Amino acid sequence: MLIAIWAQDENGLIGKDYRLPWHLPEDLRRFKEVTQENVLVMGRKTYEGMGKRPLLNRKTIVLTQNKQYDPGYEDVLVMNQAQEVLNYEKDAREAIFIAGGSQVYKAFEPYLDKLFRTVIHHLFDGDAYFPTFDYTIFEKVESKKGLRDARNPYDYDFETFVRRA
Ligand SMILES: NC(=O)c1ccc[n+]([C@@H]2O[C@H](COP(=O)([O-])OP(=O)(O)OC[C@H]3O[C@@H](n4cnc5c(N)ncnc54)[C@H](OP(=O)(O)O)[C@@H]3O)[C@@H](O)[C@H]2O)c1
Repeated sequence: MLIAIWAQDENGLIGKDYRLPWHLPEDLRRFKEVTQENVLVMGRKTYEGMGKRPLLNRKTIVLTQNKQYDPGYEDVLVMNQAQEVLNYEKDAREAIFIAGGSQVYKAFEPYLDKLFRTVIHHLFDGDAYFPTFDYTIFEKVESKKGLRDARNPYDYDFETFVRRA
């Protein structure tokens, strides 16, 4: 199963200087919960924006065209084409989470089974946007309000879409 997961603001903004434009611990907690023990696929730029450090308890695959790329950790896999990820997924028992950024979400658009999108009802400054995407092939099956409090000072929704049969 291939699942894209991301958070965006109301304009589709997803990044600033290779980091998240906001601090929303509840979204990070949810990201951790759903991706735990599964596989994360990310572009080289997103991986480097995270300080070239894989997240705990999840296998990380970094996509780059650089065949010599050194991710800095033995257990991080490097793949050079989206097709390699699709081949890996065929034999995988875990869910494969497409975790960004823009280029990588676009590369996997035709193959996604499910989308986990967090929409933050606010506008932020930044420089990276979620790519143009054909939502008509997906059906929104859930929208859940996120907790708003002093540490999470925005309104936001956790949305789930599944590919239409
Ligand atoms: N809000 C969110 O949920 C979220 C999640 C993740 C990322 N982000 C943001 O997204 C932004 C980064 O997005 P981005 O589009 O600039 O970069 P990216 O997708 O993270 O990385 C792009 C790089 O990945 C490699 N790549 C992408 N597609 C490939 C393919 N089909 N085959 C082989 N290699 C491929 C290339 O690496 P090489 O140049 O090495 O060949 C490419 O330059 C950052 O601001 C980050 O913070 C936001």
